[in-house]
Amino acid sequence: MTDTLPTPVKFLDLQADHAEVRDDLDKVWSDLVDTCGFVGGGAVDEFEAAFASYQRGSHCIGVANGTDALELILGAAGIGPGDEVIIPANTFIATAEAVAHCGADIVFADVDPGTLLITGDAIDAVVTPRTAAVIAVHLYGQMVDMDDVGAAAARHGLALIEDAAQAHGAEWNGVRAGSSSLAAGFSFYPGKNLGALGDGGAVVTNDAELERKIRSMSNHGRSSHSKYEHDLLGRNSRLDSLQARALTIKLGRLDDWNEARRRAATWYREYLPAGVTPLEIRPEAVAVHHLGLVQVPTGLRDEIGALLDANKIGWGIHYPVPCHQQVPFAGAGVSMPVTEAAAPRIMSLPMHPHLTEDEIVRVAEVLRGHADLA
Ligand SMILES: Cc1ncc(COP(=O)(O)O)c(C=O)c1O
Repeated sequence: MTDTLPTPVKFLDLQADHAEVRDDLDKVWSDLVDTCGFVGGGAVDEFEAAFASYQRGSHCIGVANGTDALELILGAAGIGPGDEVIIPANTFIATAEAVAHCGADIVFADVDPGTLLITGDAIDAVVTPRTAAVIAVHLYGQMVDMDDVGAAAARHGLALIEDAAQAHGAEWNGVRAGSSSLAAGFSFYPGKNLGALGDGGAVVTNDAELERKIRSMSNHGRSSHSKYEHDLLGRNSRLDSLQARALTIKLGRLDDWNEARRRAATWYREYLPAGVTPLEIRPEAVAVHHLGLVQVPTGLRDEIGALLDANKIGWGIHYPVPCHQQVPFAGAGVSMPVTEAAAPRIMSLPMHPHLTEDEIVRVAEVLRGHADLA
């Protein structure tokens, strides 16, 4: 008798997303090769209008990637050398890169142990007279407590900026990113809930002056009335037409895809063994579950990972080294106890819109097979 190999459970299944819109995506490509309208134009305008409306903000500017989106917001807000910007220690390094590249000083804040997101108390603990802004990172697809963090920003007179790279369509008390802060930066890196066919990003804001400035800064500082007049020092950080058209098509599927992720998260809660703790989702949040983040007992992650590997179940760690301990920022030597305690315990289980209940039952059964998790 031959052993049957375990059926793989994919960590992410972009092929399945794309199969739903494949004909439309193919048409985008062939139209573009025919028309050669690769940069700017109506396709970008159309996506910007659709995405601003989706996020319930007034304006959207398509840019080259999510890191640029954050850097452009900071730059347009006048934040630079001499300023401090507070960011959570538990974030992807891009949040810190954006602050560093605009010349401001990064100040790390710790996070809530249940949600692993920044809090108002954590902001209070690190704010100084030099602090100009705070970046609220809606990590893993759940928005931070915007009432609490918004109140802390207001209390200290800080610009509130959102890193919504992992939170397209997420809500806090009915509010989406970009509609209640100075601005939100989004990433359309292919694996995001709304992913392009390459790199892409956007800024969403209600501030018309900020929009005008970022639109110009991201397009060589061009004046609004002439292609060859430049009002300010800019750069090239544009969303190209291919990405804009693909994103418009995929945006039409995003609510269903986010709903499917919420279903998957509910199944995980139902089936996971007691030793595997899913992220706490606050009642005020409508999360979009960018990642299937769980916490496992300290010291067991390697064994659990090996078990998942042996059963062909995809998994990851977001992020194994906290941002304040990454080489470029470690010099400051700050201590972030909650983030540091969570780092060796977090792991990301498969999460995407096409996961079935059977697949999640299988992931849970495999995990239950570890004696210390059942
Ligand atoms: C939390 C967070 N912020 C910022 C970014 C940066 O986005 P991008 O990779 O599009 O520059 C990412 C994505 O990678 C992210 O996950």
